[in-house]
Amino acid sequence: MVARVHTVSFQGIEVKPVDVQVQISNGLPGFTIVGLPDKAVAESRERVRAALHALGLSLPPKRLTVNLAPADLMKEGSHFDLPIALGLLAAMGVIPKSDLEDYVVLGELALDAGIRSVSGVLPAAMHANENSRNLICPGACGGEAAWAGEIDILAPENLLQLVNHIKGTQVMSRPEAKLREDAGFRAPDLSEVRGQETAKRALEIAAAGAHNLLMIGPPGSGKSMLASCLPGILPPLLPREALEVSMIHSLAGALPAGGLLRHRPFRNPHHSASQPALIGGGYRVRPGEISLAHHGVLFLDELPEFARGTLEALRQPLETGDALVARANAHIRYPARFQLIAAMNPCRCGYLGDPEQECTKAPRCGADYQNRLSGPLLDRIDMHVDVAAVSALDLQKPGTGEASETVAARVAAARNIQKARYEGFTGVMAGLTNAEASGKVLEAVAPMDSAAKALMNQAVEKGKLSARAYFRILRVARTIADLSGAGEALSRVHIAESLSYRRIVLSSL
Ligand SMILES: Nc1ncnc2c1ncn2[C@@H]1O[C@H](COP(=O)(O)OP(=O)(O)OP(=O)(O)O)[C@@H](O)[C@H]1O
Ligand SMILES: [Mg+2]
Repeated sequence: MVARVHTVSFQGIEVKPVDVQVQISNGLPGFTIVGLPDKAVAESRERVRAALHALGLSLPPKRLTVNLAPADLMKEGSHFDLPIALGLLAAMGVIPKSDLEDYVVLGELALDAGIRSVSGVLPAAMHANENSRNLICPGACGGEAAWAGEIDILAPENLLQLVNHIKGTQVMSRPEAKLREDAGFRAPDLSEVRGQETAKRALEIAAAGAHNLLMIGPPGSGKSMLASCLPGILPPLLPREALEVSMIHSLAGALPAGGLLRHRPFRNPHHSASQPALIGGGYRVRPGEISLAHHGVLFLDELPEFARGTLEALRQPLETGDALVARANAHIRYPARFQLIAAMNPCRCGYLGDPEQECTKAPRCGADYQNRLSGPLLDRIDMHVDVAAVSALDLQKPGTGEASETVAARVAAARNIQKARYEGFTGVMAGLTNAEASGKVLEAVAPMDSAAKALMNQAVEKGKLSARAYFRILRVARTIADLSGAGEALSRVHIAESLSYRRIVLSSL
């Protein structure tokens, strides 16, 4: 007399099917859960017992065994409560066993039989769809589950509602697909930033091609302000991207309203962030900030203040676009294709190279501070711009700068050009932006005319550019050409502007 309910377990963004088998047998009364449960799963016994009690049911005085198969897969999280409770109800004969066969079930139970939201509902719903099953999930998560396609979804608020639905005494309707409401979200407008034309231009290029950008300048020059304007000029997520990003946020339990994300994520971790917080990991492995910033922006303000090891750990994800967390018992991969925007002062006191205010300990102060960033990390940042202090005169000028809306329109146009170009490259390309074009693809899409080639050769010779820097310069040049609506071939001006954003190269030219 075994009742079976389907549920899932998560390993990274992979969803593994788990079978909850419940047996009621004769013997000494007891309630055991086996199959590598962690603490939260083991504690579900008490929640299930209390929730059934709230329905007026008590567990039979028999031997109750719950097996979570496969037995060698670690089961983590509180979402096993609901499948265990339904398995018990089926084994007790309260609901028919056959009614649960087609469903994947997840949800946490409260002591009063309420069903509380859990993380990972969207990936679980997608998994159910792929396996031609339906889904039972908490009421609060119905809005995200409904995006998974034409499957039947039950999103009850409490256990009684669900039991009544299964018995046919009350009918629940399918939840509506929801988009996340960003109530009160407003990025500062670019027109509020006075002066800083070069930095604004660099920000526009970075937004258009999803390039990494480092802003260097004295305190109070507007670096953090410029970065916070970025969400206002980035295009909205494409539907496929929105689903991918929302899956990661769902796994991290960061979709509180239960709706799909519409805006590109903008993550802004403090510089005291630990390596697991940034890359992912921890005792119960979770996506880190870089994965939460997938298809969006990771803004690292005061870059040299981050721990050295933490910064170096960014090197691999910046190149491969995913975070691989290796643990003794599991290797877990989270996608992390993010755009890195960073800001820093040129030295500890902040005034190195400032014409108005001298750095008293130059050049030692700057060298020590900048040495905290390794060459390989800087090599991965496509654009470096100086953000000089704004003069009082500039600040007093009436705001004449372009509004974010105007810039956003240009960025969107450039992204559309890229999308049209790269959609043909299925299989080779990981994404649809210039920043994601591989060397081979670049050869095809960014041919240089002879003047451009000559300038590039000169830069490579004099600047001792790495192969990576070479391709990154080409990618930025491609974006500059796309922004200006130029045709296929890159000309000298595009390469020259792109080179101007590589401080290291320029200083040796
Ligand atoms: N170019 C600017 N135009 C208008 N306001 C500015 C500008 N630069 C700075 N400000 C004002 O100064 C404040 C501080 O700027 P912000 O925090 O961006 O400086 P920062 O360059 O990040 O400095 P720090 O290196 O100390 O972090 C802003 O909130 C804004 O009010
Ligand atoms: Mg700042």
